[in-house]
Amino acid sequence: MTKMNLIHRPRRNRKIEWARNLVRENEVSVNDLIWPIFLIEGTGIRQPVPSMPGVERYTVDEAVKAVAEAASLGIPAIALFPNTDPSARDSEGSEAQNPDNLVCRPCRAIKAAVPNIGLITDVALDPYTSHGHDGVMDGHEIVNDRTVALLVQQALNQARAGADVIAPSDMMDGRIGAIRAGLDEEGFESVQIMAYSAKYASAFYGPFRDAIGTNATLIGDKRTYQMDPGNTDEALREVGHDIDEGADMVMVKPGMPYLDIVRRVKDTFAMPTYAYQVSGEYAMIMAAANNGWIDGEKAMMESLLAFKRAGANGVLTYFAVRVAKKLRGVS
Ligand code: PBG
Repeated sequence: MTKMNLIHRPRRNRKIEWARNLVRENEVSVNDLIWPIFLIEGTGIRQPVPSMPGVERYTVDEAVKAVAEAASLGIPAIALFPNTDPSARDSEGSEAQNPDNLVCRPCRAIKAAVPNIGLITDVALDPYTSHGHDGVMDGHEIVNDRTVALLVQQALNQARAGADVIAPSDMMDGRIGAIRAGLDEEGFESVQIMAYSAKYASAFYGPFRDAIGTNATLIGDKRTYQMDPGNTDEALREVGHDIDEGADMVMVKPGMPYLDIVRRVKDTFAMPTYAYQVSGEYAMIMAAANNGWIDGEKAMMESLLAFKRAGANGVLTYFAVRVAKKLRGVS
């Protein structure tokens, strides 16, 4: 066999574990994880979500226990999503303004029991509206400015309940500035805003809508406010507006199909940048793993590493607890 005369043999740096560890450019750590959880009414219940194997909806008391475990693993923050009782949903999403709703109650309970974990609350009306849209409707139109006024009230309701980070996922125009002003006016100037800035009208949200009951309610689709999946410059404009209006952190959503957007946002703005590995991404990995078609644990870790490589500072992921346990070496 003839010996090749090569100057570069990139395989040298891959020849053994320690060398691979030494040259690795990106890593996943527990500090990268934000854990989204689903809430239901009642006590003592953990209810599986069929389209998200391994994910459960928690009653408030069970959520407190689950979040305490997440905190003990070092997960920095959680995000709360309510499955509102159908009887509490109406055309204006009034339940969003109830100080005892299924976000405010867990906020207070978790703050009291697990004070050191970050509490992120979602601002959007869809869990509370009878039509499943993130805003209020006038005929078929999702009305922007009247919705924003309600979102400000919703954000204040959450901040009063102890939310640390307000995360608007509604994609209305001008909501970041309005929410920032509302928070500041009421003395919540240290409450952060994580803006779902580049949120696409995506098919990958299906299992989430099962989890919070909006597949049953949603009329039509969200393409007049969520972004067109074909666009990338537009994502930069959206992120730019949110930063100008006062966002502390920005987000791209979904995650893995939109890693090009994560990279462009990070390179352009150098802001704390997050990606949401959404329900459909989680469901795909779990479905393939449960069929024996892929190694689920390896695919989970590789998918999260991909976010880091694309420039994300953190990832909202339903795998958070599993990943944290793996990284900590606990089962
Ligand atoms: C709605 C909202 C959605 C998600 C988070 N907030 C879905 C939607 O826009 O219908 C999706 C998260 C996921 O799929 O995991 N405000």
